[in-house]
Amino acid sequence: MPENPYPFEPFKIKTTERIPITSREEREKILTDAKGNIFNVPARTITIDLLTDSGTGAMSDAQWGALVQGDESYAGSRSWEDLQATAQVVFGMPYILPAHQGRGAEHLLFTVLLDRDKKPVIPGNGHFDTTMGHIDWAGGTGVDCIGDWALDPESDYPFKGDIDPGKLRSAIKEAGVDRVPLVLITITANTAAGQPVSMKCICEVREVCDEFGIGLYFDAARFAENAYFIKEREEGMGDKSIAEIVTMMFEPVDGAVMSSKKDGLVNIGGLVVCRDKKLYRRLASMGTLFEGFPTYGGQAGRDLAALAVGLREVLHEEYLRWRIGQTYYLGKRLRDNGVPIVWPPGGHAIYLNISKILPDMPLSQYPGVAFQNAVYLDSGVRVCEIGSVMAGRDPETGEDRHPRLEFVRLAIPRRVYTQTHMDYVIESITRVYENRDKLKGVRFIYEPKVLRHFTAEYEEVEKEVSKT
Ligand code: F0G
Repeated sequence: MPENPYPFEPFKIKTTERIPITSREEREKILTDAKGNIFNVPARTITIDLLTDSGTGAMSDAQWGALVQGDESYAGSRSWEDLQATAQVVFGMPYILPAHQGRGAEHLLFTVLLDRDKKPVIPGNGHFDTTMGHIDWAGGTGVDCIGDWALDPESDYPFKGDIDPGKLRSAIKEAGVDRVPLVLITITANTAAGQPVSMKCICEVREVCDEFGIGLYFDAARFAENAYFIKEREEGMGDKSIAEIVTMMFEPVDGAVMSSKKDGLVNIGGLVVCRDKKLYRRLASMGTLFEGFPTYGGQAGRDLAALAVGLREVLHEEYLRWRIGQTYYLGKRLRDNGVPIVWPPGGHAIYLNISKILPDMPLSQYPGVAFQNAVYLDSGVRVCEIGSVMAGRDPETGEDRHPRLEFVRLAIPRRVYTQTHMDYVIESITRVYENRDKLKGVRFIYEPKVLRHFTAEYEEVEKEVSKT
């Protein structure tokens, strides 16, 4: 990446939304009322919202136009025909099935492909939490085969999302091939800080799958961002268009699930795509039961129309250059200010390395939550802990599960914020980082059993005064 890779926004702003500006005093009251849980803070009190890049993007004029032109038919609408034709070309797959969002698509694929009696095992490069949830739900277990290159948050390794083929082979042999119905590659790897997966890795994983006769699927939520990284970083790919790279990426796989809320550039929706007619038929029957008729899948016709446009727009190279450049800009400037982050910056988010920022705060005081809340109090910016609170408790022992590293994620909505917004975030994070020795940990005053991070309530823990 060049020193200052931040290109100008390749769009003009046609509609604006007022940003709430609050005082520190107001924010203190808001966070107290929210019982210290950033998920309980109303969006109308948030100045810059980096909670997620999912369903939070801005649509283009062409997408808004498509919304109006979209037609609403239960079966076989014009909007559906447009989406189907577009997705067939973009992904090179004959069968396209809409779902209400990514997890709806996961539900269909895993219920159809997993045989609970076999105790199935699904290797991947760090399944996303809903994906893991759906694998569990269908009676399976996820196994992480990401390479050791992902473990060093500071190395320059260009494709930290890559699966290690050696680990994959071992995982398949250990489980027994009969228990492995598919391998799932997430592009880009959200649980590995949005790091990309190389074309080389996709081909190697295909070879391993062929050795054992196993299907290969993508979790393709951020497929276009992944393609841009391949273009930028992988040898021999620089001259290809993003559309060509996407075609190459999908050629070796049997199908994919996708949350359209990311690289579909829409606010809701999901897809399953596949090559096999029999599989499609089974998916479509399940889809009719849980999502809706196979030509709308829980979405309005106009949503399908906007998604068709989004899937075409996301392939524009100047958009992706700006998008990946904006994430890089945020990460690089934070790093220049001394803030430890996962390097190199991924596609959709910057991950602060809280284990390095607050090494002395006990994990039982949830340092990620302490940092996240301090950022809100400082500036009204909402970021999100990805650490021990999110990991939850071990159902057997009841003890907290501690991930290898504690993170706070700054996920950037698409086409929403400008460079000056990023500067505001950088100043605030840097300020909180520089005053990190004043931060207080938290403890639960209410802790739900399932997905505790969404609804937990906290209070601050007073710092112990050193007796020396
Ligand atoms: N797969 C990946 C890689 C994801 O990042 C997500 C969602 C999903 C599947 C599920 O999709 O939300 O449409 O049902 N990620 C969001 C996030 C929630 O904030 O990273 P969904």
